Amino acid sequence: MFHSNDLLVIGGGGHAKVIIDILAQQKTFTLVGIIDRRDRMGQHLNGIPIIGDDSQLESFFRNGLRNAVIAIGDNQRRADLYEILKKLGFNIVSIAHPSAVIAATVHLSTGAAIMPGAVLNADCMVKENVIINTKASIDHDCRVMEHCHIAPGCTLAGGVSVGAGTLLGAGTTVLPGIDIGAWSIIGAGSVVVSAIPDRVVAYGVPARIIRHLD
Ligand SMILES: CC(C)(COP(=O)(O)OP(=O)(O)OC[C@H]1O[C@@H](n2cnc3c(N)ncnc32)[C@H](O)[C@@H]1OP(=O)(O)O)[C@@H](O)C(=O)NCCC(=O)NCCS
Repeated sequence: MFHSNDLLVIGGGGHAKVIIDILAQQKTFTLVGIIDRRDRMGQHLNGIPIIGDDSQLESFFRNGLRNAVIAIGDNQRRADLYEILKKLGFNIVSIAHPSAVIAATVHLSTGAAIMPGAVLNADCMVKENVIINTKASIDHDCRVMEHCHIAPGCTLAGGVSVGAGTLLGAGTTVLPGIDIGAWSIIGAGSVVVSAIPDRVVAYGVPARIIRHLD
């Protein structure tokens, strides 16, 4: 029923619009539809129809659809969908906009989304299901763990480490060699000058811990 280059887009919000635009220009895959909320079925995003919700993923796979791209900004939701798709056996596609600059020694894992104008410098490691968003700059030897979102315009100096599931808000700057924990949120426009633990909200210049997440 489906062809080997058919692809399902998971998520139908603003981030999905950018992902669809990139994939449509690259023409490697045929975008057959979007998975989103049930009440949005029949609507279109950039001309691509919303054809189902999460509960239908298994049936799409059974009918021969093998490729999926995760186009969801929220880290927890994106992580959950990643695990579901992996368990079902989907090929979770990585994408990189042609304007992104990616050094030859960068290690990119499955499901990465490298958005327009992003820069990844020598020996960076970007783990599964990460978004490096528009014009974010990740310098040499950084480690960005699973399910992170590095929002538009962030600047990570060399040797920064970001734990799994963390969001760096738009325009955040992180000084060289700083470690940021897992599942934390760094507010937009922050300057991170010292280590940030797991599961906190921190922001400001310099970034301070504002509260702990449960
Ligand atoms: C930090 C953040 C998570 C919200 O945290 P919060 O504690 O729930 O913040 P609130 O909205 O309740 O605001 C609380 C106070 O913090 C301030 N504040 C919020 N975000 C701030 C930030 N990034 N830097 C400095 N101050 C901030 C608010 O102005 C408010 O101040 P007030 O109490 O003096 O009025 C959010 O503001 C943020 O920056 N998110 C990142 C969004 C982003 O870049 N997403 C990527 C999209 S692609």
